[in-house]
Amino acid sequence: MTRLVDTIEDLKAEQRYDSRGVPTVQITVITKGGAVGISLAPSGASRGTREVSELRDGGVGFSGLAVKKIAKNFAVKFLPKIKGVSIFDQDLLDQILTEPDETAKTWGGNFAIATSQAIAKAAALSLHLPLWQYLRQVFHQHSGLAWLPNHKINLCANVLNGGVHALGGPTFQEFWVVSSQGTMAQQLETIAEFYFALRENFKKNKKLTLVGDEGGLVPLRQTGEETLSYLHKMLREKGLLNKLALGLDLAASEFYTKNCYLVDGKKYSREQYIAYILKLQKSYNLAYLEDPAAEDDLKTWLALSEQLAHKVWLIGDDLFTSQGARLKEGIEADLANAILLKPNQVGSVTGLMKTAALAKKNNYKTIVSHRSGETTDTFIADLAVAINADAVKFGPPCRGERLIKYERLLSIEQELNESTKVEF
Ligand code: PGA
Ligand code: ZN
Repeated sequence: MTRLVDTIEDLKAEQRYDSRGVPTVQITVITKGGAVGISLAPSGASRGTREVSELRDGGVGFSGLAVKKIAKNFAVKFLPKIKGVSIFDQDLLDQILTEPDETAKTWGGNFAIATSQAIAKAAALSLHLPLWQYLRQVFHQHSGLAWLPNHKINLCANVLNGGVHALGGPTFQEFWVVSSQGTMAQQLETIAEFYFALRENFKKNKKLTLVGDEGGLVPLRQTGEETLSYLHKMLREKGLLNKLALGLDLAASEFYTKNCYLVDGKKYSREQYIAYILKLQKSYNLAYLEDPAAEDDLKTWLALSEQLAHKVWLIGDDLFTSQGARLKEGIEADLANAILLKPNQVGSVTGLMKTAALAKKNNYKTIVSHRSGETTDTFIADLAVAINADAVKFGPPCRGERLIKYERLLSIEQELNESTKVEF
């Protein structure tokens, strides 16, 4: 690839709002050559304790969650550090971004990640490349891994919501259907039709068709087991058991205290809980289990891994928080076999890529994921294609901030079909 010379000229940070109406930051990076990269930070509600923290204003407005004051500070402080640096030096820029500074520990999972993503977008535009193609090159430089054009990405759609994303629903946070057959467009159609049928069924049974933060319908006053049984029955009736697998994000850290798990009003000791999860897996043929144990309850992780790792994707989200060091410990202890990748958990594009490379080199499955507080930024769709992720978790086909990411994936798929000749 011919490298053009282009450097950072300007930086803007402004307050915007996420899909929950909570303030978030929008970063604009402008290069000397006139390329403009814009990115917005998402925000989680069931966060792992090891995620890089977000910087917010504090005070009374928005319960302290505004970012207006920090935004002003950020541009003034940070621009002098990066002005004149090559827009293509993502690694160096990410290092500067994630270095602790004199006023804050780091610029956090909101300012740092939005800037890192905006830099990558501006770099891609400067080279007249689609973002995924630019990111693919950055990933290759970091990992040495060859990019596979026919690599399959499974779509994981959390069609029913509970936990902290849907109060009044079951304790488990997400009930997934996962597609793996056909093109991404075909997979999305299968999922959308199933989601449509679920909504119709809710209406027929006079249930409220409320949706949770990520767009999944909320089965009010139902236990997790009742919800799984309902989903399984619906899949059987629609003849989809061969096409869509079932999965869960339990987000177990949210209902774990003092060696016990409190699920749908019932308290389980560690041993009882492990037996319960194994029973659910078997009864409903669960193929994906994200955070089935709390992030610090490694004993339960290990017990589940011994029993299930050969047949189920055991996915660490809060367990790893996209951090390489944490993943390394998990690999050494055989705790899981898959990792959820959320850029704002680690704070930079290359930080995330380093974790993704470590995962791939250890045969871990990689799943690029949205957050419950999302924006219309589609960066993660390009990222998933660029790193040959094994799956994406962008929510069900409901709510614009989720759909726009699927739309981006389908556009990339079309682009890939139309041009097999991609230059490095
Ligand atoms: P969060 O949840 O974005 O609210 O943290 C998503 C998840 O747990 O996967
Ligand atoms: Zn999760």
